[in-house]
Amino acid sequence: MKEINISTKIRVCSYEELNSDEKILIDVAKKAALKSYSPYSKFKVGAAVRLSGGTIVDGNNQENIAYPSGLCAERVVLFYANSQYPNEEVDAIAIAAYSFNKFTEKAITPCGACRQVILETQNRFKHNIKLYLYGEKEVFVINSINDLLPLAFEG
Ligand code: THU
Repeated sequence: MKEINISTKIRVCSYEELNSDEKILIDVAKKAALKSYSPYSKFKVGAAVRLSGGTIVDGNNQENIAYPSGLCAERVVLFYANSQYPNEEVDAIAIAAYSFNKFTEKAITPCGACRQVILETQNRFKHNIKLYLYGEKEVFVINSINDLLPLAFEG
């Protein structure tokens, strides 16, 4: 018998510590959160993606009265980016959430299904995706989606 230890490296920093490109991506995600359609949860999530050519696209969660028909912000933005720019790699994704009239203090972390879709995009382009998970108190900077989805199904 042996044990395998899986570790995840997360850099925790303040918004002010980030460089201007990183701040811009987060700002776009925050702005996108405010445009979310989330009348059921009232939890507004925004996501922004930077493509390798420099273009930034954004999206937010879209809910439905038949709850499972809704979609998280991360998948909305990634499916949009991949449908509109099928030949451009995704460099980074920033995520922010707005609830009870303010942005969350803690960093928002993507759900399992979104992690799987981020991984698919990373694998599809063989290009690492960096993550910025925004919180008012602290921002999680994660070097690769692999850190958030160890032992992923890869076929
Ligand atoms: N949601 C996202 O958009 N992204 C996440 O990372 C977590 C959850 C959405 C789904 C639903 O519309 C609302 O937030 C509450 O779960």
